[in-house]
Amino acid sequence: MIQLLEIENKLHDEVRQGEAYAPVSDSNIAYKKYFYIESYGCAMNFSDTEIIASILNSNGYGATRNLEEAELIFVNTCSIREKAEATVRKRLTEFRKLKEANKRILVGVLGCMAERLKTKLLEEEKLVDMVIGPDSYRSLPSLIAQAETGQKAVNVLLSREETYADISPIRLDSNGVCAFVSIMRGCNNMCSFCVVPFTRGRERSRDAYSIIAESTELFNNGYKEITLLGQNVDSYYWYDEKKDQQITFAQLLEQVALIHPALRIRFSTSHPKDITDDVLFVMAKYDNVCNHIHLPLQSGSTRLLQLMNRTYSKGWYTTKVDRIKEILPNCTITADIITGFCTETEEDHQETLEVMEYCGYDMSYMYYYSERPGTLAAKRFEDDIPLDVKKRRLQEVVDMQGKLSTAGNLKDIGKTFKILIEGDSKKSELDFTGRSEHNKSVVFPKGNFNYKKGDYVLVKVKECTRATLIGEIVG
Ligand code: SAH
Ligand code: SF4
Ligand code: F3S
Repeated sequence: MIQLLEIENKLHDEVRQGEAYAPVSDSNIAYKKYFYIESYGCAMNFSDTEIIASILNSNGYGATRNLEEAELIFVNTCSIREKAEATVRKRLTEFRKLKEANKRILVGVLGCMAERLKTKLLEEEKLVDMVIGPDSYRSLPSLIAQAETGQKAVNVLLSREETYADISPIRLDSNGVCAFVSIMRGCNNMCSFCVVPFTRGRERSRDAYSIIAESTELFNNGYKEITLLGQNVDSYYWYDEKKDQQITFAQLLEQVALIHPALRIRFSTSHPKDITDDVLFVMAKYDNVCNHIHLPLQSGSTRLLQLMNRTYSKGWYTTKVDRIKEILPNCTITADIITGFCTETEEDHQETLEVMEYCGYDMSYMYYYSERPGTLAAKRFEDDIPLDVKKRRLQEVVDMQGKLSTAGNLKDIGKTFKILIEGDSKKSELDFTGRSEHNKSVVFPKGNFNYKKGDYVLVKVKECTRATLIGEIVG
């Protein structure tokens, strides 16, 4: 499970690396082959990997965590920053060695990097046998068959309709408590720095009934928290033919909240231009919709926001934050921030720091700008901020966030929160870890209670670090 809260995880250009997933294989089944898959990038990519595993599994392939056992090696890739791609390329050189030792092994590159580079990947990375874009996963079995004949197999067609709505994802490497549910794919926003509209294609929303069915099934299987995922969840828009009405994100959120009061709901990501009061009212109305909004800022300078094509100004953003705090006084807000975008001055950078302070973010994902080929910014603007300046500004942003996170956590000392237990803490089997509705990680001793993973428990906060609250069970 991706720890959304750990600041250490999101500094600089780090890529969140997926574990090679737990075997979903049944030893009584004679699989055609075993596959091993790794994911990089955003939560949506992790969610896609669960769809990919499901497609492969229902076509007779078994998942394995053991690379040595695998004859199919897949990497579900990310293109968001240069470093993300470099990490994958490095990993591919490691797979080359395995392939040299066992000629039967086939290697497939999936996801955003496959989509961005297409057949170029085959020229650049000679060991790659399959290149499969994010909308082509249904064709995986036929692409594998093709690659088995010794031909390179490529499918990078983007679709306007594909949402994989009917595919029931296999929950990989899951704690059995928290799950992702994709509600839409693609993005229409064209932020000038961003590669996603090119790698993921046009925005499309998934059938609301399938989302509710999947979420209900998760709850029936013991899951207690789901995160509705999309690049821009607030622009979810799906036409319900049965009822002859459009379903908005606020309506969808309400429907999912109504599944059961013991099922916690989160969502990500919200674009400041699209999040509506209706969404905030649903959050206020239902206790099980978590009081946390991830609201990427990117920059605090209106001039830069314009160059970024974010379609909001500094004032619009801070007014939105005011409105959130008015309707949801208890809501935590987190953000994404980019330093060193084209033409950024020290004044622009200071404005970013000011807005961070104004909003009092509890956490941020922070990056320095990485030019991506083909994006609007790459075509229109010079990447003119020297790397050392980008990095120095990033460090200042990181320091500011550290200050804000600590201040936010200190305020929680003495308070009691309802925590969903996600498992043992990393450091000790005597402690549990879980999260508050505000998406803060909380560690606490198990004590003499009989609580288990998946239970809700009341925890009083005693102390904190920058990234974690430490407490004890009070009921
Ligand atoms: N859809 C989400 C974000 C998706 S990408 C949104 O609109 O907010 C996640 C984050 O990566 C972005 O919010 C941005 O902060 C960062 N990012 C995207 N492209 C980048 C680039 N070229 N260089 C550095 N950071 C980038
Ligand atoms: Fe990229 Fe902007 Fe779309 Fe987010 S909203 S995925 S940053 S283009
Ligand atoms: Fe990366 Fe693609 Fe997600 S570029 S951030 S994996 S949508």
